[in-house]
Amino acid sequence: MQQRSSSQPGRHNKRPFDRGTFFAATPNRWETSRSSAASLASSAATERSASSEPKRNLLKAFLNSIVALFSSSKTAAASLKSKAARGLESPYATPVHDLRTSRKGAYPGRDSPRWKEPGMIQFTMGEILKATKNFSPTLKIGQGGFGIVYKGTLDDGSLIAIKRAKKAIYNSHLNVEFQSEIKVLGQIEHFNLVRFFGYLEENEERVIVVEYVPNGTLRDHLDGIQGNYLDLGARLEIAVDVAHAVTYLHMYADYPIIHRDIKSSNILLTENLRAKVADFGFARLGVNEAGVTHISTQVKGTAGYLDPEYLRTFQLTDKSDVFSFGVLLVELVSGRRPIERKRELKERLTTKWAMKKFMQGKAIQILDPNLPHTSANNLALEKILELASQCLAPSRQTRPSMQNCAQILWNIRKDYRELLLSDSLPQFSHQRNPSINSDKS
Ligand SMILES: Nc1ncnc2c1ncn2[C@@H]1O[C@H](COP(=O)(O)OP(=O)(O)OP(=O)(O)O)[C@@H](O)[C@H]1O
Ligand SMILES: [Mg+2]
Repeated sequence: MQQRSSSQPGRHNKRPFDRGTFFAATPNRWETSRSSAASLASSAATERSASSEPKRNLLKAFLNSIVALFSSSKTAAASLKSKAARGLESPYATPVHDLRTSRKGAYPGRDSPRWKEPGMIQFTMGEILKATKNFSPTLKIGQGGFGIVYKGTLDDGSLIAIKRAKKAIYNSHLNVEFQSEIKVLGQIEHFNLVRFFGYLEENEERVIVVEYVPNGTLRDHLDGIQGNYLDLGARLEIAVDVAHAVTYLHMYADYPIIHRDIKSSNILLTENLRAKVADFGFARLGVNEAGVTHISTQVKGTAGYLDPEYLRTFQLTDKSDVFSFGVLLVELVSGRRPIERKRELKERLTTKWAMKKFMQGKAIQILDPNLPHTSANNLALEKILELASQCLAPSRQTRPSMQNCAQILWNIRKDYRELLLSDSLPQFSHQRNPSINSDKS
């Protein structure tokens, strides 16, 4: 696992300040949560209601301001074209490069019969077995609710992650989850979202092939794996990346997508500590029909990150992701998991503990003990907690949109970097060479 060492000077400069991607784009599972939450919600009726006008206006405004900043492929370009036809085109030029060709053959040519639909490849069992050396245990890189995750290599050397569904439970709810993941992953392309390469559906096997992200999960890094902790600058960059990715899901894709499981173990990191949001197994297409502002559905997600209003009403909106993002922000600055079972009762629910401290003007006590109390860190901490408190509002109406979160975080990042820079500038009044002074005297 690699990361920037906290002793490395100028480590924040690895990413150029103006990466031209402000909007190029923008949160541990309680193992029992999925089933208990699902049974909680099993009686929920599916219904759709209310007005979509504000949503469409929001979408238009967003598209008009950000389109240029998304990385594009043919698929994205095609989707832009259809948006343009609906009068939603951006005034900005859209950089177009074909990610399929840039993937050194990870994708077959566009005319290949292997293309089922854009963004998806149907892999054969032979290819999957070859890539994973027959699902070799040595290539296992993780395990989640869906099944085991393997690292694989395609013939052209491309690294991939292969998620193999547990057979024992395939015939039940996982089938729905598999289909959901395929649909969603197949339509999205964004630097801060784990890229979907394809899938295999053969007899009882269900396999998803995605981009391999080499540097572990955000949770691993907050736990200081290999003795290195992320500094606050890196954490801010990750928050911006996640906000951009989720903004994209909410507002840019052909159909709004609500992630539903934003959490630190679903944020994967690249070697340069860029964040990629993973695991769309719970995602489902959001709302974009006239007269619809929310969907009623089974409660899914991870305990500690779940929007209380969604839990109470079963009504899912993009603001449920905003709530989870607020939990993630608190996790980022405190280093604590959302539920800390080993702590005393009043500190067990991290957001409750942190928000109480914040309201009491004791934000400083929330900062991860692995981070120093510099002026830049303390100021950013206050601002991040302020945003988190807005995201964690009990009522979804008062929570900011994910686009707002991205903008606010971007400004926090900018101020943080400026303060960091001014802190590191020589203080001239204290810099005179004492020997020169003594010469003069
Ligand atoms: N694309 C990937 N690249 C590299 N490692 C991955 C990738 N996807 C998953 N992993 C690794 O596999 C582990 C398990 O991932 P998975 O998404 O199956 O479960 P989870 O997110 O931990 O929990 P759950 O999915 O049940 O909520 C991750 O924690 C990560 O370490
Ligand atoms: Mg996951």
